[in-house]
Amino acid sequence: MSEIANNSYDIAVQPSGRAFTAQAGETILAAAIRSGVGLPYGCKDGACGSCKCKKVSGEVTHAHHSDKALSADEEAAGFVLTCCATPHTPVVLESRQVTDASAYPIKKMPVRVAALTPQSHDVMQLRLQLPAADKFRYHAGQYVEFILRDGARRAYSMATAPHFQDTAPGIELHIRHMPGGKFTDHVFGSMKEKDILRVEGPFGSFFLREDSDKPMILLASGTGFAPVKALIEHMQHKQIQRPTVLYWGGRRPADLYMDGWMRAQTAAMPSLSYVPVVSNALAEDGWSGRTGFVHQAVLDDFADLSGHQVYACGAPIVVDSARSSFTAERHLPEEEFFADAFTSEADKL
Ligand SMILES: Cc1cc2nc3c(=O)[nH]c(=O)nc-3n(C[C@H](O)[C@H](O)[C@H](O)COP(=O)(O)OP(=O)(O)OC[C@H]3O[C@@H](n4cnc5c(N)ncnc54)[C@H](O)[C@@H]3O)c2cc1C
Ligand code: FES
Repeated sequence: MSEIANNSYDIAVQPSGRAFTAQAGETILAAAIRSGVGLPYGCKDGACGSCKCKKVSGEVTHAHHSDKALSADEEAAGFVLTCCATPHTPVVLESRQVTDASAYPIKKMPVRVAALTPQSHDVMQLRLQLPAADKFRYHAGQYVEFILRDGARRAYSMATAPHFQDTAPGIELHIRHMPGGKFTDHVFGSMKEKDILRVEGPFGSFFLREDSDKPMILLASGTGFAPVKALIEHMQHKQIQRPTVLYWGGRRPADLYMDGWMRAQTAAMPSLSYVPVVSNALAEDGWSGRTGFVHQAVLDDFADLSGHQVYACGAPIVVDSARSSFTAERHLPEEEFFADAFTSEADKL
């Protein structure tokens, strides 16, 4: 372990023993991604807390981040957010989620809007056409970022499994309108077919751990269904038959915008079951299914999650509630919880 030229520093990750070097001024996460070391992460922007891990030794400086992602107490206790932490000594981290996962090349690509198809009053399915030259490769569950004119970035998860690139190349995204939002106001306002946008990807550590045979809980809120749909398609393609239950939560039944598709998948896939959960049904909805918060439905159904893996995506409050209650109250091992919290500008305040 050493400091090498130009203030670049060695970073080691326990217990995997993976090691890489951060260049001067580079965050630990940026260096890990550049080096193909699969540290966990989500927003890359100090908002979600997915990249939080324990620092065993070394010194870092944190850039601005939300208190929810890393509190002052956690920082004092030696935790770091790798996406905002720049080392100024060699660093040893502890992260049980580090993978060797074949990091696919991250590319910047111009894409063309092929189709905009509303799925509900506030969810748009966006189909993007990719440059024909080479195949886009990613893990089911990963996301791309749009690079906006002012350099801002917005992340959206691929909603189809990667094997479809062979027969139907392109990207499908499910985008929920956040009124007042810089990008989604554009999607629901002036975006039209044939528009050209810039994306970069793939990113993210939310993908199926295929070396495990544990039963799985998939937990989605709203458009958190998009990467979960890709996982389900991937499991079908690879004939993965681990017992799996999807809990999909929305405020109203219409928020479960591909409910029919999901029901059809359970009919075709005996290892998969589906529990739709609605939190704010009105009488006019005629909803007779499960009600309440979606993570609570899992707590109600499972007394013990010590032998499970959980994959959770969507609203940060749902992901955070699931992480804390499943680990604290249902004995889910911390390293068996995989998540992408769909943070936005509102979560960085
Ligand atoms: C890893 C990852 C994957 C994601 N995948 C998806 C996906 O598949 N589908 C999906 O729908 N979303 C996804 N998201 C969320 C997505 O990236 C955007 O954050 C979201 O769509 C909002 O973008 P926006 O530009 O429209 O809104 P933003 O500009 O980010 O604004 C969000 C909200 O905050 C308000 N706001 C903005 N700035 C301020 C401020 N200064 N003070 C107070 N309020 C403010 C806006 O009015 C708006 O309501 C993902 C996020 C992450 C991190
Ligand atoms: S990836 Fe670091 S806080 Fe989200």
